[in-house]
Amino acid sequence: MARVFNFSAGPAVLPLEVIEEAQRELADYQGSGMSILESSHRGREYSAIHEEAIANTHELLNIGDDYAVLFMQGGASTQFPLIPMNLLGEGQTADYTNSGTWAAKAIKEARLFGNINIAADCGKEIPTRVPSVDELKLTPGAAYLHITSNETISGAQWKTFPEPEAPLVADMSSDILSRPFDAGKFGLIYAGAQKNLGPAGMALVIIRKELAERAPESLPTMFKYKTHIENNSLFNTCPTFTIYMYMLVTRWIKKTGLDNLHKRNVEKAAKLYAAIDGTDFYRGTAVAECRSDMNVTWRLPAEELEAKFIAEAAEQNLKGLKGHRSVGGIRASIYNAFPMEGIDALVSFMEDFERANG
Ligand SMILES: Cc1ncc(COP(=O)(O)O)c(C=O)c1O
Repeated sequence: MARVFNFSAGPAVLPLEVIEEAQRELADYQGSGMSILESSHRGREYSAIHEEAIANTHELLNIGDDYAVLFMQGGASTQFPLIPMNLLGEGQTADYTNSGTWAAKAIKEARLFGNINIAADCGKEIPTRVPSVDELKLTPGAAYLHITSNETISGAQWKTFPEPEAPLVADMSSDILSRPFDAGKFGLIYAGAQKNLGPAGMALVIIRKELAERAPESLPTMFKYKTHIENNSLFNTCPTFTIYMYMLVTRWIKKTGLDNLHKRNVEKAAKLYAAIDGTDFYRGTAVAECRSDMNVTWRLPAEELEAKFIAEAAEQNLKGLKGHRSVGGIRASIYNAFPMEGIDALVSFMEDFERANG
């Protein structure tokens, strides 16, 4: 089997052993005589998967029963409006940090529902970064503070989280479960599944249950976190196959150990940043203290060289290195399941490419 090194930002590389396990039991799930793809979301087989996925999340994030783990549809993008719809009361203000494209999208949706204060704005700065905790201008009595823990496009990541008085809400789409952190300090965490968690098709939402009580009664049933909490994410047909894959991925994270994964993630990123910093030919695009361990971004001296770099890398089975269409450049997304050998192969390719074109 020829597997390439897949640097895609999402959907992204998954642990091979997870894919192989899903493959082994795809046609006949554990002797049930049917695929999990064909099984009822209320049946015995799927129910066990659902409960394990929730339990694994509680265990990995070390959160208690005051938090609900929800599987919701519409991707992380649907959370952008749902958060203010549920948490931002009439006349209240919500604080948002602007750190780039994804934060800006969250802000745009939130503005549809109430007063938004931009607590810090470095969204358009180059080199890119996230705000520091000290520069935040927070609103007294704010409904919540929203941050984007890792800007997938620019490659900037929060290394230390703020601890505001208001509930902290975080879009962790591109770095959830890549490092240990104190989830108990957050009011709400959400993440599209298709990077570190599994295939596309759901957003993982972790919410302190009491916050869901804020939602106005007038909200449509499906848009209320309360509905999904009360129904254990089974109010309607949930994305069963994505949740099944997520359950397998969380099993794999538990087996590997979150601390070990984090150590490996830091080592992978450090190796790549060292290759970028070792020469003037490559230029990192994020401020050093904010460099993401998940999405490593850099430029070459000219756009034509970048196109050549991406094309020649792909010929060597280093796929998906093109930067986001809005910013260009090179982006290597190196989530949990991305192997160290792929980093070594990329670094070696970078050295060869510079020798031939530098
Ligand atoms: C940080 C971040 N937030 C939100 C999204 C949007 O996620 P989705 O495509 O699941 O709506 C993405 C997608 O790449 C992302 O990287």
